[in-house]
Amino acid sequence: MGPAAAVGGTCKWFDSTKGFGFLIPADGSPDIFVHRADLQWGTSSSECQATLAAGECVEYIPVTDAKTGRPRATQVTAPGGGHVQGLTPGGTPPLPRPPPPPPRKGPGTKRGRDAFEHGNYVGYYRKRCGQTLLRPEGDKGVSGETPSETSTSRVLPGDARLDVLCSFAEQHGWVRDRVVLDVGCNEGVVSLHLGLPRFGAARVHGVDIDPGLIERAHANRRKVRDRLNRAVEDVVKFHVHDYSSRDGGNAGPRGPYGAILALSVSKWIHLNGGDAGLRRFFARLVGELLPGGILVLEPQRWGSYGRNKRSSTRARANFGSLTLRPEGFVDLLEREYGMRHEMTLKPTLVDGAPAGWDRPIHVLRKEASDGTEHP
Ligand SMILES: C[S@@+](CC[C@H](N)C(=O)[O-])C[C@H]1O[C@@H](n2cnc3c(N)ncnc32)[C@H](O)[C@@H]1O
Repeated sequence: MGPAAAVGGTCKWFDSTKGFGFLIPADGSPDIFVHRADLQWGTSSSECQATLAAGECVEYIPVTDAKTGRPRATQVTAPGGGHVQGLTPGGTPPLPRPPPPPPRKGPGTKRGRDAFEHGNYVGYYRKRCGQTLLRPEGDKGVSGETPSETSTSRVLPGDARLDVLCSFAEQHGWVRDRVVLDVGCNEGVVSLHLGLPRFGAARVHGVDIDPGLIERAHANRRKVRDRLNRAVEDVVKFHVHDYSSRDGGNAGPRGPYGAILALSVSKWIHLNGGDAGLRRFFARLVGELLPGGILVLEPQRWGSYGRNKRSSTRARANFGSLTLRPEGFVDLLEREYGMRHEMTLKPTLVDGAPAGWDRPIHVLRKEASDGTEHP
């Protein structure tokens, strides 16, 4: 089977002693069995010790096992190809280990508590990549292509929101030639796309609270450099940084920015910092925007907060006292923070796609004191 049939996923658990485990497919299909014989492992002579680490991102070819009649992952590689990483980086065959703890469920589930207290999911873009969004009305696309049709898709997971954003961004000059901040950049996929010619940002700062995710963002940036031959290091920079920290984030990168993206991050800041933390977050976003600058805000819906209210001690303590609601964020930003709502993009999921990935994306502009539109 050719590489076109490869599917993305993350390792749910892998028992190194028994040599098998399960993957969580990015396309939302049921968990799939994986055996060590199917892992593309660095040292073929030690295949018996080939292993996967829980949370590791992979690609694989799903087949139906001839003996059991059940689905099974074969040709399991690192995303984009190459050897799986396993439990120890650097190619050292890991030692057999005791059976893993009970499998941890994916993002947003009760068993995942503590692990993802900031929404710091590993393999997030593989999940998003598996989704398809219909373009909103009025979106004609840019040059008739989508990111998934460009060579970038061989290197980075796509993200259906980029398809939705791209032509509007171009039409309205939201990103091109601007200095852009991507708050909660996770593994850097959106930040890297913004720095490529398709979006054409002058410079991008991606910040995330999780050092492991920033490490992955750097690895993705190296992939873009090596495999797409794009010198993105000068354009896209990544920083470990808590954007909601009380000291105003002295250690983080500094604006002013022509555009800021805050995609699917507000819930985590709200749960962990309460209403006051969310207000600090908004104040900082607006404070770092140039007059006329653009804020792209994709808040999670209130209905999804309940699932994560026990994700950390702070979330548990704050949840009951939250009075602000995501459905009112745009009004709040207009009323109290000097922002003007420009438009809301409403992506539509294709039939049958798992719910929840079609959040409205609001675009607001910071009022310029002299009435001009652009920074
Ligand atoms: C659900 S993910 C969304 C990722 C990305 N913004 C997107 O939508 O493509 C939320 C991300 O925000 C990060 N995050 C949460 N709280 C943060 C904070 N206070 N400062 C910086 N990053 C934060 C998490 O680590 C995680 O990577």
